[in-house]
Amino acid sequence: MTDAAGEAKAEIPAGVVGYLIATAARAPSILNTQPWRFDVGRHRIDLYADFDRKLRVDLIGRELVISCGAALFGLRLAVRSLGYLPVVELLPDPSRPRLLASVTLGAARAPTAADTRLLEALPHRHTHRGPFEAEPLPAGLLAGLQHDAQAEGATLALVDRAQGYEKLADIMDAVSRRQDRDPRSWADMRQWTRDTTTAAHDGVPAHTFTAGADRHRGTLPQRDFDLGRGLGELAADGPPPAATAVLLTPGDARADWLCAGQALHRVLADAASRWVFASIHTRPLEAEGVRALIRDRLVLSGAPQLILQLGVARATQVTARRPPSDLLDG
Ligand SMILES: Cc1cc2nc3c(=O)[nH]c(=O)nc-3n(C[C@H](O)[C@H](O)[C@H](O)COP(=O)(O)O)c2cc1C
Repeated sequence: MTDAAGEAKAEIPAGVVGYLIATAARAPSILNTQPWRFDVGRHRIDLYADFDRKLRVDLIGRELVISCGAALFGLRLAVRSLGYLPVVELLPDPSRPRLLASVTLGAARAPTAADTRLLEALPHRHTHRGPFEAEPLPAGLLAGLQHDAQAEGATLALVDRAQGYEKLADIMDAVSRRQDRDPRSWADMRQWTRDTTTAAHDGVPAHTFTAGADRHRGTLPQRDFDLGRGLGELAADGPPPAATAVLLTPGDARADWLCAGQALHRVLADAASRWVFASIHTRPLEAEGVRALIRDRLVLSGAPQLILQLGVARATQVTARRPPSDLLDG
């Protein structure tokens, strides 16, 4: 196989297919739905959306596609670790809407120290729903994370602690109260949360959420994972996160959502390499008009895709993933 410039494309070594898929699948995904599938050919890995795993409340599939974008970033890192530059074609065939990206092995190039640092952070990167340590973020980290987002075509806008935070929290509080009454939201949570005895390889397990939906100073409203069932095992109270940020993309089409997912995973992996983790707050963004409202009230430019709160933590709460053999398309 050759590329557009007539260069021969490297073959994907058979022995690394499981590694490539497992690394991609460590990505964060909405409620750990892992809504992705892979089709591996001799020269190409195709990433497909698995719409059977779409949330009821994710009406336009935005969170599903962002999740797949995050998996694409993991796949790119895995390709780098094999000593190749990944060549990515986003949405290569408009007649096949499930096909989100095709990845081939480009020029041979040893991974950089930064690639290796991000890759090494993937196993302990996690979404943090418990208290953070009472300490500031490492100096220069936020600027580095903003650079990560920019390198992926997105923007990480920091929300100032005073006015910006209050405006954001007010909007999210009001919307969350409405959403608490939405039966579709309860159904999603029941389907995708797991108790401590679970052997499931997907969904959000009880050791990663708190038993109540209580709010603490400096934390934005969160989904109620527990729904009064007393499953959650994490401590609820403690120091708040050190920073709040909104991840934005220039537009709001499927290519932008893929870009948001890649930026999200890069930012989270970079933060995790310094033992900084994020809580992710997206439920209010599912309601119609709320993303535009946040953009206007906080005077942001672009389309808000995700809201993150970042802090230092010393322990990780890793969640399960489905094995690569369950993720092969066809
Ligand atoms: C698009 C998207 C939206 C998410 N929204 C939330 C959220 O609102 N609340 C939350 O606690 N986690 C959220 N997450 C994090 C997922 O729940 C988490 O990635 C998944 O459970 C896997 O766990 P891990 O990130 O610890 O590996 C979101 C992740 C993605 C990719």
